[in-house]
Amino acid sequence: MIEKIANLKNEISSFTINNNEDLENFRLEFLSRNGKIQDMFKLMGSVPKEDKASVGKAMNEVKNLAQNKYDEAKANLHKKKKKSFGASDDISLPMPPRYTGSLHPLTKALNEIKQIFLRLGFNIADGPELEDDFHNFTALNFPPDHPARDMQDTFFVRRSDEHPDKNQVLRTHTSPVQIRLMKHKELPIRSIMPGRVYRNEAVTAKSYFQFNQVEGLYVDENVTLGELIETLVMFAKLMYGSDVKYRVRPSFFPFTEPSMEMDIWWENEQGGQWLEILGAGMVDPNVFNAVNVDAEKYTGFAFGMGVDRIALLRYGIDDIRTLYENDIRVLQQFK
Ligand code: PHE
Repeated sequence: MIEKIANLKNEISSFTINNNEDLENFRLEFLSRNGKIQDMFKLMGSVPKEDKASVGKAMNEVKNLAQNKYDEAKANLHKKKKKSFGASDDISLPMPPRYTGSLHPLTKALNEIKQIFLRLGFNIADGPELEDDFHNFTALNFPPDHPARDMQDTFFVRRSDEHPDKNQVLRTHTSPVQIRLMKHKELPIRSIMPGRVYRNEAVTAKSYFQFNQVEGLYVDENVTLGELIETLVMFAKLMYGSDVKYRVRPSFFPFTEPSMEMDIWWENEQGGQWLEILGAGMVDPNVFNAVNVDAEKYTGFAFGMGVDRIALLRYGIDDIRTLYENDIRVLQQFK
């Protein structure tokens, strides 16, 4: 028996552990439940009583020897792995590339727009993307047969010809949030309302079935058209620089009177062109009536701008679909 123990001791001592595979083999051979050390302990039964104490002591020594060797080898292998830097390493080698995330151009444009209007004294509000007929159309003075209610433009979630007032739509603009604010908030109101909107339109380089708007509303006593234009011009200058070329021209919306649109001059290789970035106007008295605001006492202005358009202009992107494909090679350019 003593000889067996001595042999096992030798075997353990001469086992070389150079890598993780050796380490695992060592464990299986000696320390595991079916390993040689457990087998050795099983022989204890046949040891004469008077020798049990000394044999047991010798067996425990062997077991400790194996366990210590295992622990030490494991610790050494771990250290070796960590030690990645030595005299043979070339510290002049370039770092491997590290990719960090970046803000999406839409998020960047939206953040800039928000900063500008916060500076001008507006606060930020929002409303639901799923709207009813009243908020999206009726309260905004859309006549019952207005083409914008047509299937061409509007995604209907629920549609009833008998009860058109029960229609539910994906909002086609952020203007319904104006209605919600005027219904529920105290005057004066000076808010912007960013959000996603939906239109049932063919997808092209210039239009998409979903896009983003920032609505603006200022309602108080004595709000004037002059203040509206001043605000829009201020916005254009802060967004595109003080030398921006802009124009404001008359337009039509059911919920504003008078109405206008603002264009920004966009230089390109072919020369340049005017691009519309927003619609605006003085709140129509019919809208005030729909939300029980006293149209004799209050006036207001509203505007709605397309964030996608503004982002395309700001960052020189020529296809709106680029904004929704999330191609990492494109996004990497907006760091
Ligand atoms: N809601 C209009 C649109 O989607 C924009 C607009 C908002 C115009 C507010 C005037 C006032 O085109």
